[in-house]
Amino acid sequence: MLHKIDVILEEARQFDAHTKEEIEQFRIRYLGKKGLLAELFRDFKEVPAAQKKEVGHKINLLKQYISEKVDSLMASTTEGPSEDSAPDLTLPGPPMEIGSRHPISIVRNQIIEIFSRLGYSISEGPEIEDDWHVFSALNFPPEHPARDMQDTFFVEKDPDIMLRTHTSSVQVRVMEKEQPPIRTISPGRVFRNEAISARAHCIFHQVEGLYIDENVSFADLKQTLLFFAREMFGQNVEIRLRPSYFPFTEPSAEMDISCQICGGKGCNVCKYTGWLEILGCGMVDPNVLEFNQIDSVKYTGFAFGMGIERVAMLKYQVRDLRLYFENDIRFLEQFRAAY
Ligand code: PHE
Repeated sequence: MLHKIDVILEEARQFDAHTKEEIEQFRIRYLGKKGLLAELFRDFKEVPAAQKKEVGHKINLLKQYISEKVDSLMASTTEGPSEDSAPDLTLPGPPMEIGSRHPISIVRNQIIEIFSRLGYSISEGPEIEDDWHVFSALNFPPEHPARDMQDTFFVEKDPDIMLRTHTSSVQVRVMEKEQPPIRTISPGRVFRNEAISARAHCIFHQVEGLYIDENVSFADLKQTLLFFAREMFGQNVEIRLRPSYFPFTEPSAEMDISCQICGGKGCNVCKYTGWLEILGCGMVDPNVLEFNQIDSVKYTGFAFGMGIERVAMLKYQVRDLRLYFENDIRFLEQFRAAY
């Protein structure tokens, strides 16, 4: 037995290999299930008790030697792909991951698409704005508490320069340049100084709409919003308008849609009211038209504004706003859409 161990050890010492394949063969020959060491351990049972200690020790040393040799051979092999395992260049490449659009972009594009079918143009403007475009031209009087409604971020301690709190500022820029008929939507990023939570974020996105022409009525506003809600959420959706207040519209309203989860019966998403708030709207205040050199006797208009995250929440039932900003790929890749 001892002699057999010496022979195996000597043979293992002589061994040299260069390819992974050879090293693997070596490993299997010695350490494999049916390998030489397994055989030695089997024979070990027959070894007389007096020799067991010495033989056992030698077998263990042999095993250790071979394991270490396999490891060091593996570590030193510089083998590239061998002839047989060279890549088959005729195979198609690994599939390329196709990215997906961000859910906010999907919803924004869908809103834009719906309103462009009604003939609305798209207008954009700066994110850093002045007081005139964000507040004054929209009929927020100086010192009016409504300015506090929109926790504003000011830039460099200059109360005249700020991050826009809504994209109504873009509509002021449109009115400055154009005379009615005006029919435009302004999608964009807005900023409000709010603590970040599941329900609020300091950055979010809006689409605001403005329609000014002769004889534009509240009925037109209502019909436009009903059309939008049906296109966005399905033909069965119902809307309701609740009286509200905005400095730039009179009368003003907030629009709810019937809860898409419970169909209006009441559930925890709609807090058992059957309705979900989705946007603010109203008839453009004549002051706003006059501030922007539009004849408020000849023309009337309506405006509306919605948060894209809010629409996305209602559409996808993702109730934590923060998910839209963290850009975790596992979240984002769940959204695929034609938009
Ligand atoms: N600008 C308002 C907001 O950001 C929304 C709004 C737009 C309300 C137009 C009425 C009319 O909250």
